[in-house]
Amino acid sequence: MFSFILNILLVTKVFSLDTSELETKNFNEKSQLLDNQYPPVSRQIDFDDLKNIMENSFTDNEKIEKFSVVDGFYKDFYYLKNLNNNLSLKSFNMLKQWAKKNQTTIPKIYLPNNKKLTPDNLDDSIKERLILEAQRARTFAYAPYSEFHVGAAILTKDGYIYSAANFENAAYGNTICAERCAIAKAISSENRGVSFQQNADIVAIAIVIRGGGGSPCGNCRQALNEFNPDMLVIMSDIDAENIIEKHLYELLPMGFGPANLDKAKALE
Ligand code: THU
Repeated sequence: MFSFILNILLVTKVFSLDTSELETKNFNEKSQLLDNQYPPVSRQIDFDDLKNIMENSFTDNEKIEKFSVVDGFYKDFYYLKNLNNNLSLKSFNMLKQWAKKNQTTIPKIYLPNNKKLTPDNLDDSIKERLILEAQRARTFAYAPYSEFHVGAAILTKDGYIYSAANFENAAYGNTICAERCAIAKAISSENRGVSFQQNADIVAIAIVIRGGGGSPCGNCRQALNEFNPDMLVIMSDIDAENIIEKHLYELLPMGFGPANLDKAKALE
C-alpha cells in the first residue's frame, strides 16, 4: 500500500516537473532528480536489477561526479526498452556495461601463426568483440552538453583494440569525436614514424551510438582516411542490433590523402 501511494506521488511528480525547473537546478540536485524523472516501467524486475548494479558500483560521491554516466545509463535504458516495448537479453547485457567501469588495458585478439587481420578476413566473433569494446568505451564519454554518448574501437592488423569515447568542451568547437579519440589512442600507442599509414595497420573501426547507424562525421572520415581508406567501418546501435558495414572509401569517395600531396611534389 505504501509503495502504491509512493508510486502515485512519483508519477504526479513526473508530470509536474517541467524542463525549466530541471535546467535551473544545480548539478547535484539534478542528479537526485533523475530518480523521479521517469515513470515506473513494466519490467520492474529488470529495472531494479540494473539499478542495483549501478547503485552498488559507485559510492555516493562517485554517483554525483559521474552524473553524466548515470544519466546516460537512464537514457539508454529507456531507449532500449521503448524500442521493442521490451528489454532483450542483449540489451540487458549492454546496459550492464555502464556499471563495469573497469576498462584499463588494451585488449588483444589472439591470432594463430602470426596471422594478420585485414578488412575482409574478420569473422563475426571479432566484429562482435570490436563492437563490445566500443560499447564499453562509450560509457566513458564526457558529453554533458549534447548528452549524446559515442563509443569507437579501432582494430589493428595484429589484433589490438584501441577504444575511446567522445569528449566535449565548454567551448563547444573543441569537442573531439570518439573516432578521432580512438585514432589518437592507437597512433600514440603504437605508431613508429609513418608506419600506421604506410602499412595500413588499422583494419576496422566499430562505432556505437544510440539510434543506430553511427555514421562517422565528415571530419572523422577524413582523419580515418589518412590511415587506411580500405578499413571496415562497422556502425552499430547500442545493443549491437541494426549493424551497417561499409569500407571507408564508400563513405568518403575520392577522399583527399597523402597520395595527393605526393603527386603534387612530383611536379615541383
Ligand atoms: N560525435 C562523435 O563522437 N562521433 C560522430 O561520428 C558524430 C558525433 C559526438 C560529438 C559530440 O560530442 C556529440 O557526438 C554530438 O555531436
